Amino acid sequence: MNRVEGKIALVTGSARGIGRAVVERLAEEGAKLVISCDMGEATYEQTNVRHEILNVTDRAAVAALIAKIEAEFGRIDILVNNAGITKDALLVRMTEDQWDAVINVNLKGVFNMTQAVAPLMTKNKVGSIITLSSVVGLYGNVGQTNYAATKGGVITMTKTWAKELARKGAQIRANCVAPGFIETPMTADLPEKVIQGMKDKTPLGRMGKPEDIANAILFLASEESSFITGQVIAVTGGLVM
Ligand SMILES: NC(=O)c1ccc[n+]([C@@H]2O[C@H](COP(=O)([O-])OP(=O)(O)OC[C@H]3O[C@@H](n4cnc5c(N)ncnc54)[C@H](O)[C@@H]3O)[C@@H](O)[C@H]2O)c1
Repeated sequence: MNRVEGKIALVTGSARGIGRAVVERLAEEGAKLVISCDMGEATYEQTNVRHEILNVTDRAAVAALIAKIEAEFGRIDILVNNAGITKDALLVRMTEDQWDAVINVNLKGVFNMTQAVAPLMTKNKVGSIITLSSVVGLYGNVGQTNYAATKGGVITMTKTWAKELARKGAQIRANCVAPGFIETPMTADLPEKVIQGMKDKTPLGRMGKPEDIANAILFLASEESSFITGQVIAVTGGLVM
């Protein structure tokens, strides 16, 4: 299948987990090039993937990368804001460093990327921006004040972009995917009791796989979703309804 044939896509936080599955899925579905960006190294077998070392909090590095892509291709059709971290603690114990670190990557990193890519999409009057929220951004979670703030924040940023970037007839869409509990390195260290508790609360009775999220992102990246913008698709096995 070629659901994103010929597109130039950029995915952040893509050395592992959900981001890696997204890169592979977009590449399989005919993207001309998927630019995978992460602080860590990654290799891909697919010839239409290029990996770049990037810290999304580094505004100068983000600007330099986008300028390089613009010079080479003149466009970015798909941006997937996937890079994200957790630094959990109960409200009364959360340190300023824990708060700042999560806000910096999950909120400011998304702002940095989208602000750098948006002018390129605006110039071409087309694009799809997909940002990773979370069930936690929809209903909160004990021990995740910082993370919940960012995952709720990206939803309202997305709604703002859906309005702002579509002005003057531009077909630029912005949507979020809110995963439930997904089997990735991010959740690998959760205690078995917590994981079992989540499975018990999930109607489909299991954790999700990175591919479950990648498939929803692929849909939002493709023309199949061309009349969908400003939305949050929860991919949670029914944990949130
Ligand atoms: N796994 C889940 O259950 C789950 C649930 C809801 C939402 N999410 C969200 O999905 C996204 C991906 O999660 P995951 O589980 O695959 O995480 P992960 O920890 O497995 O992978 C995250 C990747 O982001 C990269 N990264 C971190 N900080 C970065 C930075 N400053 N610049 C560039 N890259 C950076 C890491 O190097 C890593 O490769 C995150 O935004 C996360 O909040 C995950």
